[in-house]
Amino acid sequence: MARVLLLLVLAASLAALVSSKGLPVLAPVTKDTATSLYTIPFHDGASLVLDVAGLLVWSTCEGGQSPAEIACSSPTCLLANAYPAPGCPAPTCGSDRHDKPCTAYPSNPVTGACAAGSLFHTRFAANTTDGNKPVSEVNVRVLAACAPSKLLASLPRGSTGVAGLAGSGLALPSQVASAQKVANKFLLCLPTGGPGVAIFGGGPLPWPQFTQSMDYTPLVAKGGSPAHYISARSIKVENTRVPISERALATGGVMLSTRLPYVLLYRDVYRPLVDAFTKALAAQPANGAPVARAVKPVAPFELCYDTKTLGNNPGGYWVPNVLLELDGGSDWALTGKNSMVDVKPGTACVAFVEMKGVDAGDGSAPAVILGGAQMEDFVLDFDMEKKRLGFLRLPHFTGCSSFNFARST
Ligand SMILES: *[C@@H]1O[C@H](CO)[C@@H](O)[C@H](O)[C@H]1NC(C)=O
Repeated sequence: MARVLLLLVLAASLAALVSSKGLPVLAPVTKDTATSLYTIPFHDGASLVLDVAGLLVWSTCEGGQSPAEIACSSPTCLLANAYPAPGCPAPTCGSDRHDKPCTAYPSNPVTGACAAGSLFHTRFAANTTDGNKPVSEVNVRVLAACAPSKLLASLPRGSTGVAGLAGSGLALPSQVASAQKVANKFLLCLPTGGPGVAIFGGGPLPWPQFTQSMDYTPLVAKGGSPAHYISARSIKVENTRVPISERALATGGVMLSTRLPYVLLYRDVYRPLVDAFTKALAAQPANGAPVARAVKPVAPFELCYDTKTLGNNPGGYWVPNVLLELDGGSDWALTGKNSMVDVKPGTACVAFVEMKGVDAGDGSAPAVILGGAQMEDFVLDFDMEKKRLGFLRLPHFTGCSSFNFARST
């Protein structure tokens, strides 16, 4: 009898295991207005800042999490230190390497500061999803690096660390993939207002009526960086190709970043693009657009306008569209919603900034870094297994905040 009972219990827990396996994990994404950074809930009221180029999950370690016994020479420790952040000490195991515990170097994506920290086990409390709504709560076990609270400088209030979303093994998507037995991919839909959504592990795409016809471009790896890169062949302003050398675009590539709310451009790309944009904006009144009145620029931007003279349409301020023609043939279109930032009441600036302090020629600097504002209200499907990025701008009448987080539809 006892044996039958035991078998029944075993069978039931096996069934539970099978049914809890394979469902992707959902998190609401909130934009912090003070910093323009995006956060997701982590557990017990704490949240983590999303860093699409981040290698690790890190958090301050208050709350008695269990330290992970990971040796300095272990593959996990190598993964944690696969891409030393600029300015962080180069990790070393010393000569008696087998005895030393692993030290990771979490870094702050905004300030660039880093600190040494040990690895510990913690949990990501979230809901599984069928792609449309939450299904049931899960605690996903994750390995995170411990950071001192001073590393939280410049991050949103209430956040206790960073969730890295890079393609590497200790970034959050890959950890969710192994814990939940789901694909190593994630969907990101960054909001402009109320919560947007992140889904780790694939599954049916939300907004199927639109996402069925998503465009794809290859995700490319770039030596020395864990960030996600894509390739652009050309940049157009309206229908005119901006005279930028294809080589300059190809060697640097286009990096995706949630660290900054604007586009950073390598100088060989910046100048021709800004000139083309200004020229196209000046020509717009012929199409019935108002005459944009330039105002004193607000750093770090060079071109700022009086918002009363810009005009609005469903795509944001009425300014020329900027199109990145990507590998694979489709265009990533930036309308006024994604190419202008409001810097203060009455003033909006063109969200393009020249990359400073980078060396010419060697191709190590990205040609273009797209920031948070350029990805907002886009459904982005980062697929590290198929090495491709799906992208789709949601129509103007909806947006990333239209995801339904209520459990019953
Ligand atoms: C899971 O979803 C339900 C229903 O929307 C919500 O009330 C709950 O807070 C969610 N849990 C977590 C951990 O996000």
